[in-house]
Amino acid sequence: MKRVLVLSAVLFAAGSVAFSVGAQPKADPAHGESLFEDMCMSCHIKAGGGQGPSLVGVVGRPAASAPGAVYTKALQEAKLTWTPDKLDTFLINPNAMVPGTAMPMSIPDPKDRADVIAFLASPANKP
Ligand code: HEC
Repeated sequence: MKRVLVLSAVLFAAGSVAFSVGAQPKADPAHGESLFEDMCMSCHIKAGGGQGPSLVGVVGRPAASAPGAVYTKALQEAKLTWTPDKLDTFLINPNAMVPGTAMPMSIPDPKDRADVIAFLASPANKP
């Protein structure tokens, strides 16, 4: 009987750990926008242009398809469409996902990444 209690306590603890890892805090697009201004806007200005392609409306768009932008062969041949999940993987380490891409910036913190992606997907970042 004692053993059953110990076992269920262990399972309960494991269950709550799994729950807290699985439960993502809600992404905050306003915080994402200020991160974008700090970390991304030097290259991706909001209205397009700059050294990097415009990221206006990037969520749902095929990679390397911003009009007038210059892309590496690597990104053009990656055959990706930018979903929030793909952006998350890309922003952990762009060169690991698309070897040879000229996109140099990563966002190591998962919450900051989620916030920036929430901003990119928000009405504030639509054309
Ligand atoms: C130093 C300049 C620079 C900074 C800073 C930068 N980028 Fe980039 N980014 C680029 C370049 C250049 C490309 C095009 C890469 C290629 O063609 O391989 C790119 C491409 C991208 C793409 C793919 C766009 C497309 O049209 O397929 C995404 C998404 C992206 N960057 C997100 C970000 C985010 C989010 C940040 C801020 C956290 C950021 N970038 C910061 C230069 C930059």
